[in-house]
Amino acid sequence: MRAYVSESKPLVNGSPSYGAPNRTARTIGASVREIPVDANLKLDLDGMAEAANGAGLVFLCNPNNPTATTHSLDNVSAFIRRVKSNSPDTAILVDEAYIEYATDTTVETAAAQALEYDDVFIARTFSKAYGMAGLRLGYAAGRPATLAKLNAAWGLGDLNILTATAAIASLNEPDHMVAEREENSRIREFTIDAFREMGYEASDSQTNFLFVNVRQPAAEFRDAAREQGVMVGRDFPPMEQTHARISLGTMEEMERAMEVFRKILET
Ligand SMILES: Cc1ncc(COP(=O)(O)O)c(C=O)c1O
Repeated sequence: MRAYVSESKPLVNGSPSYGAPNRTARTIGASVREIPVDANLKLDLDGMAEAANGAGLVFLCNPNNPTATTHSLDNVSAFIRRVKSNSPDTAILVDEAYIEYATDTTVETAAAQALEYDDVFIARTFSKAYGMAGLRLGYAAGRPATLAKLNAAWGLGDLNILTATAAIASLNEPDHMVAEREENSRIREFTIDAFREMGYEASDSQTNFLFVNVRQPAAEFRDAAREQGVMVGRDFPPMEQTHARISLGTMEEMERAMEVFRKILET
């Protein structure tokens, strides 16, 4: 954010999407062009590409948090091409924090596409599917000159040996991630189907959470669930009057959670 946005260089983000970039941009004094998601709760790539003209940075969250939806690598590539041809100085960050959970095979990392342009980079994290949030490790991929700009704008700090060792150990066990993705997908299908059987729709999730139209304020749904021992995530404006973000747990936890949700939604 600090490398690319400023008072005269706005940030472009989806709405709703990951909120941290918006907060950082506003701290710097930059404005934020928030582009609503489409009817399927996918990022509106056309709208974001138009808004990118003259912007400092476009934040493209793929999969998108909190709506859980994705765009194919083809769509992301076309988006990058379009933005870099219409507004060459605009940077693009493709945040792939949840991409390990995607089972749709058209959803792939845009790392290679990032290498084709200056000021385009992807970001990955060990905080989600790798389960290492407390160890604080992520990385970016882009051209060396792009990464040098990031480093100059914001010291990236040191990496401790425990974190580095854990990351190397996880990368050396790719089968574990395959199993994690499959188990998450099994739980995700169960939970989406259970909502659907009750007449409630969730977006096409490619992540480890669902964004469900609970047809009531998320706060009411959350409070009712908490009273019965199930925790549901915070509000995600501007959709907090109708949609709740529900993180997936183990199969046993989701079976229990669905019993609670059924009581809340069917009374
Ligand atoms: C979309 C997205 N990107 C990035 C992050 C940041 O993860 P971390 O700072 O733990 O690597 C999060 C965490 O919530 C996220 O949801």
